Amino acid sequence: MEKDCGVKEYKILFVCLGNICRSPAAEEVMRVLLAKEGLGDAVKVDSAGLIAYHEGELPDSRMRMHAYLRGYSLSHRSRPIRKSDFKDFDMIIGMDSNNVEDLTELAPDDESRSRVFKMTRFLQTKRADSVPDPYYGGTEGFELVLDLLEDSCSGLLAFVRQRLSCR
Ligand code: 4NP
Repeated sequence: MEKDCGVKEYKILFVCLGNICRSPAAEEVMRVLLAKEGLGDAVKVDSAGLIAYHEGELPDSRMRMHAYLRGYSLSHRSRPIRKSDFKDFDMIIGMDSNNVEDLTELAPDDESRSRVFKMTRFLQTKRADSVPDPYYGGTEGFELVLDLLEDSCSGLLAFVRQRLSCR
């Protein structure tokens, strides 16, 4: 995450509560989009959770199934966020207001706090205040997550392109 001309890759971390539903899906939706746009080497993505409860687990089987039906293969292993993430990543993106509040509190200083965003800020065509937690709900919740992630990832791509062009 150095600021000089394209020497180092740009890094984005997606964060949700458990790191088994929303953020691993966001990571893969964004990775596929970046690859399609030829930016797979320039921009790296990862995801993490605010709790360690599911550490080491693959994404929730329902999330994997709904993602698979749209062509995404989710293979991330859940991991909790760590202090070094605030130094390593150029953007740290929470899925809802609770995530963003927690990240804001965990950030070690104002500079890293300025790199915390909410995913829905990047929505293009849909309107929502959060990517809602689908864990305790049904099928529609997982579809909504993917709808919101696909829409916001295209907005995020435009945002990142601008940032890359400024370096
Ligand atoms: P996620 O969903 O934050 O989108 O990964 C959740 C997964 C697990 C739990 C909560 C939310 N949990 O409480 O175990």
